[in-house]
Amino acid sequence: MTSYTHLNRKTREAVIMPREQRLAYARRSRWVPYERAIEIESIIDDLLQMPVDERVSNLLIFGSADSGKTELSKHYFRKHLPKDRSDGEGIEAPVIWVEAPSIPDEKEFYEEILTALRCPFKLTDGRLMKRAQVNTMIEQLGIRLIIVDEFHNVLAGGGKTQAAFLAALKRMSNVMGIKFAMFGTQKALRVIESDEQLSSRFEIEPLPKWRRDAHFQRLLVNFERQLPLKEPSKLHQPELAEWLFDQSEGMIGELSRTLRKATVHAISHGREQIDIDTLKSLKRLSPSARRKHARDGY
Ligand SMILES: Nc1ncnc2c1ncn2[C@@H]1O[C@H](COP(=O)(O)OP(=O)(O)O)[C@@H](O)[C@H]1O
Ligand SMILES: [Mg+2]
Repeated sequence: MTSYTHLNRKTREAVIMPREQRLAYARRSRWVPYERAIEIESIIDDLLQMPVDERVSNLLIFGSADSGKTELSKHYFRKHLPKDRSDGEGIEAPVIWVEAPSIPDEKEFYEEILTALRCPFKLTDGRLMKRAQVNTMIEQLGIRLIIVDEFHNVLAGGGKTQAAFLAALKRMSNVMGIKFAMFGTQKALRVIESDEQLSSRFEIEPLPKWRRDAHFQRLLVNFERQLPLKEPSKLHQPELAEWLFDQSEGMIGELSRTLRKATVHAISHGREQIDIDTLKSLKRLSPSARRKHARDGY
């Protein structure tokens, strides 16, 4: 019996599944831990534990598209799912996850929150009614931290709508003691910087692109532990690591898709590891080369 020590426990079970199931497993994206993510999670933890009266009580995590922001925000949330209260009196939800409305609108934001809490609301109720409903939920469920993904959406409103929305967020933190962990692109920085009072209350943390270094190699080691292949591919070794870095251009989303495709390709061709030929036969361009081709009208 082989022990498949290059794989994590779950993947060891997947690697011996029948072919179709193994292929399905290989196609699915799964959380792969990496150092910066663990760091950011502990920064959010500190924010969650911080007394409400501290000045800096919010966080903005920014990075380009495909850098893993949504995955990271959801991964954090999954570790803090609502649970039964210790006194048996209902549930508590210290952390909730929402997406910023596509335009900064206070009422829609409350609707997002109520939807996240699976709390029914009347579409016809106005902004103030929904604000009251959200405040009740905050108290009932002991909500302390709201994770907001796609925070750059706030820019989609003109100056006035944007200011009104930010005022609503400030009210939530001042009156209800809510802390925010925002995730967004570089543009989200502009939202914070548009308001002096807000910017003094935000800690800003980048989720940068990967560089060609030992961190990237460790990421590859962690990815490999989740690929259901029977032989080690040693993705972190220079030839493969270089190829994967160049092709993905340091974006975790692209890396994840390429590795999943390579795994499926290997399994479909009766191979049990990813080697340089597997990667090359994918004929996969880098994201910027694909964009260039699209622009040039290929
Ligand atoms: N920690 C991770 N482990 C595995 N795959 C990841 C991880 N983070 C991101 N990905 C992959 O990258 C893709 C893009 O990530 P996402 O969080 O949607 O990026 P962003 O929100 O920054 O645009 C995801 O669909 C997922 O497949
Ligand atoms: Mg996203």
